[in-house]
Amino acid sequence: MDERQFTPALGRVAPARFFDFAVALTRERLWRGLAVAYAAPRPGDVVVDVGCGTGTLLQAVLRVEPTVTAIGVDPDRTLLDLARRKVATSGASARWHAATGDQLAGVVEPGSADVVMSSLVLHQCPVAVKRAILGSMFAALRPGGRLVIADFGRQRTTLMRTAFRVVQLADGKADTQPNADGIVPELMAEAGFDDVREPEWVPTINGSISIYVGRRP
Ligand SMILES: C[S@@+](CC[C@H](N)C(=O)[O-])C[C@H]1O[C@@H](n2cnc3c(N)ncnc32)[C@H](O)[C@@H]1O
Repeated sequence: MDERQFTPALGRVAPARFFDFAVALTRERLWRGLAVAYAAPRPGDVVVDVGCGTGTLLQAVLRVEPTVTAIGVDPDRTLLDLARRKVATSGASARWHAATGDQLAGVVEPGSADVVMSSLVLHQCPVAVKRAILGSMFAALRPGGRLVIADFGRQRTTLMRTAFRVVQLADGKADTQPNADGIVPELMAEAGFDDVREPEWVPTINGSISIYVGRRP
């Protein structure tokens, strides 16, 4: 996939530099905290964040376990610059790569990552790209490595389906509706992940955000 072809962080509604303000409205500390808890980073782990945006998730991982090798991947160089500055300001260090999530082979040695994470990315991608990213994540992980995804998932209630329309307005229905219909765990299993589960879902002002976990056998 071409690095220039991707939906920007705030879709069609606002410049990406406003992303941190917008995402703060989504009970962000709760679902990011859950994502980090399920990732359970250990000393020295290699942790890759796919579509890392402004680096907030990796920053949370580094706060919990400062010795991880943190690798942020995103096609948007403007956001990567913000991420680099934000994480450096907090005194932590990470590596940053401009690439789409289906190109992880060029970023980390295949089979070497302990944890691959991603937040709020798959809902913005066409189904074929969701598939390609999950396949690339699978290949990046070592056997036994963990995948943790935090993203808009199955919208279980009328209230959440209605709230999710805001996201659909920004990012378009074609890419977002499969997530709302619950496609993510199916695609994870199809990519080869074992023990695929959705242990949490967090209702927010924009629809519910699910935590999905899986393991490379
Ligand atoms: C809604 S933002 C989420 C950013 C960040 N993960 C977070 O939780 O704050 C979506 C991000 O996905 C990135 N993105 C879009 N298409 C992508 C792709 N095909 N591969 C990897 N990242 C992608 C965008 O550049 C943007 O940074």
